[in-house]
Amino acid sequence: MEASPAEPLDRSTPSGRDLFLEFDHRRGHLRRSLRLAIRGAIQAGRLGTGTPLPSSRRLAADLQVSRGVVTDTYDQLAAEGYLALRPRRAPIVAHVATVAADSAEPAPAAWRFDFIGTTPDVELFPRRAWLRALDRALRVAPNEAFDYGDKRGRIELRRALAEYLARVRGVRVDAGRIIITQGFTQALDLICRVLRARGAENLAFETPSLAAEWQTVVASGLRVEACPVDAYGLRTDNLADISARAIVVTPAHQFPTGAVMAPARRTALVGWAAERDGLIVEDDYDAEFRYDRNAPGALQGLDPGRVVHIGTASKTLAPGVRLGWMSLPAALVEEVRLAKTAVDSGSPALDQLALAELLSSGEYDRHVARARQIYRRRRDRLIETLSSRLPGLPIEGAAAGLHVVLRLSDGVDDRQVVSAAATRDVGVRALSAMSLSDDPMRGLLLGYGRLPADRIPEAVDALAASLPPYPS
Ligand SMILES: Cc1ncc(COP(=O)(O)O)c(C=O)c1O
Repeated sequence: MEASPAEPLDRSTPSGRDLFLEFDHRRGHLRRSLRLAIRGAIQAGRLGTGTPLPSSRRLAADLQVSRGVVTDTYDQLAAEGYLALRPRRAPIVAHVATVAADSAEPAPAAWRFDFIGTTPDVELFPRRAWLRALDRALRVAPNEAFDYGDKRGRIELRRALAEYLARVRGVRVDAGRIIITQGFTQALDLICRVLRARGAENLAFETPSLAAEWQTVVASGLRVEACPVDAYGLRTDNLADISARAIVVTPAHQFPTGAVMAPARRTALVGWAAERDGLIVEDDYDAEFRYDRNAPGALQGLDPGRVVHIGTASKTLAPGVRLGWMSLPAALVEEVRLAKTAVDSGSPALDQLALAELLSSGEYDRHVARARQIYRRRRDRLIETLSSRLPGLPIEGAAAGLHVVLRLSDGVDDRQVVSAAATRDVGVRALSAMSLSDDPMRGLLLGYGRLPADRIPEAVDALAASLPPYPS
């Protein structure tokens, strides 16, 4: 199998040429180092399929190692499938798939003025508090925390959330009915999977709403059914026409219009769900950032048996935390737990423990309170500047969250404004792009969470220059 000492080296093949191998000559490292070097050259495609290698005698001489080091290495690489051995001849490289080099990472779009983000300023992430929480969590966590655990999530976090959600949002839940997810997105995905498994074909959504959420629904095989909203939130006068038995709503702060669902409509919606044995999915994404008066309590408080309440750390801390939580009706817990198990076997334990620590130490509340002050200043500056530079254009949805809606004059196409703004290096989103209906609301969604207050006047100037002349 190995080239015999008598066999002449075939100099017409690359085996006759030098083979560049990065190789560690220290004693005790030779075999491993040679194996890694040849394997690396094959995997990278530098030694292609069919290439003959030097004979063991030749390579041993070149590398100044014993011939046994080379023959052992060739045997090992042949056993792994990288080389094909040939009787009385040097081995050749076997067929090994090479993988294309990683494509370049796309650079994140960086606008001079960014109104696109409706998530928090990531610069405000409470690094020190998180580090302290993680440090403490690691010190006190039992060993079993590093094992597979309850797929609903760490009990420490579920308990802390049950207390927090009751106190801050009026949610009626116990730790056993909470499931920790990767943000709202995964919570929605899990609900969709459960609904689909129960035979549902569609899921109702407010229009306008977040298009990324419709994609999650469609990916699960459900269809999205549109329900219009107005200045008082979801319209409940035509609920009877909805064919879906489940609906996703944003009652505390409709996304994107910012409307707060009127009390009578909350009652009507809960009544609708009870009547048709339906389900309400409450996306409670940004209630913590409420500026002028207390946020209305969660809809879930009205009927914990019919409403799934979903919260997320994406607004209060940062989207990269990827933690969310669902408070479920008892009848759904087991099905959602099984769906979560099938999807990822549970969320990362250490992050959950850190968040539990942040909540129970009071740091979470303190961070939210600090961040709320900063966003309030940014919001006030934005409203003030819009009112003076673009008087007459209505500003809506400013009571909470991290964005406002600027309505445009009749006949102005919001998508054209978005394109014009882009030419001035201003990033902004059109309301009409979030519509499920043929007759969309038009306007601009202005996220201010990521714009420092002192840059807002300049940003509004650049935006105003992108608008067609409007009657003042
Ligand atoms: C309406 C709405 N729901 C939910 C979320 C949060 O999604 P996730 O928790 O998956 O980051 C956002 C984030 O911006 C949002 O705008």
